[in-house]
Amino acid sequence: MADSPDTPAVDADSPLRHRHLLDLSTYDADELRHILDTAQEFRAVLDRPIRQVPTLQGTTVASLFFEPSTRTKLSFGLAAGRLSAETVSLSKSGSSVKKGETLKDTARNVEAMKVDVVVLRHSSPGAPHFLARCTDSVILNAGDGAHAHPTQALLDVLTMREHIDTFDGLNVSIIGDITHSRVARSNVQALTTLGANVTLCGPATMLPVEMERAMDVRTTTDLDAALEGCDIAMALRIQMERQDEGLFPSIREYHMKFGITPDHLRRHPNLLIMHPGPVNRGVELANDVVDHERAIILSQVTNGVALRMAILYLLAPQRTDG
Ligand code: CP
Repeated sequence: MADSPDTPAVDADSPLRHRHLLDLSTYDADELRHILDTAQEFRAVLDRPIRQVPTLQGTTVASLFFEPSTRTKLSFGLAAGRLSAETVSLSKSGSSVKKGETLKDTARNVEAMKVDVVVLRHSSPGAPHFLARCTDSVILNAGDGAHAHPTQALLDVLTMREHIDTFDGLNVSIIGDITHSRVARSNVQALTTLGANVTLCGPATMLPVEMERAMDVRTTTDLDAALEGCDIAMALRIQMERQDEGLFPSIREYHMKFGITPDHLRRHPNLLIMHPGPVNRGVELANDVVDHERAIILSQVTNGVALRMAILYLLAPQRTDG
């Protein structure tokens, strides 16, 4: 850990060993459970008539979103607001990045304005790690290229935990474009650390088989095999722009081979359906599946606010417990 940018927590009260949330590769099961337990407390705050606590008064959170986002951007903003932190945000198109300013200079200028926490979404894998090395702010990764999306995976396992007794032996299948999915990578790290069995399923062109050995998962190109004995199926968004790369013949054929349909729900009566969003209705999930009572997609979104409150609470400096 000593030479990692993700240095040990400076707050002696925090049981976390980390100062940043860059990816989940170095978070152990105790740390993950502590984050989930904290998020569960904040989930209860969201159901109160007044959904705000003064915990992070005096803390400033800057969101730098250099890629589009609906859920992650809004929920980080809401989470910071619910904790009474001050927030500012910047997009690529509305910033001097458009004039050629580098990521490092952008972040150092943001930091010079006395910001405590930087939430970064960026198309380059490793961009949050880079910022953690060249600034003093706490860095929270909101998705970096195809590398990692740690808060998404944490909100996913938080949502799963509402429906299960234990992760030990839980069978989770992640279906779709695994190669380009930061959600898949972070979920594999969180789920295997917590004791779940993970199957990755998708077209051979989107399924890096080396992950089977490197990440202790099973891989298959057969959706029926992925759903057999599966407790939770997580479908991933097909990036339509990848159609030009010849990774799958057509949207229609993708849906026929890998789309989850009402028939799958009938054949697997206890199967729960998840999706990180945004959903391509009729592609990775049939329209009726998106709206089915066993699709817990909107619970994922609600839990995203609670989970991001927990991350800010645990990692942001200058907090006053209230
Ligand atoms: N799941 C997710 O990251 O969604 P957004 O891209 O809308 O933030």
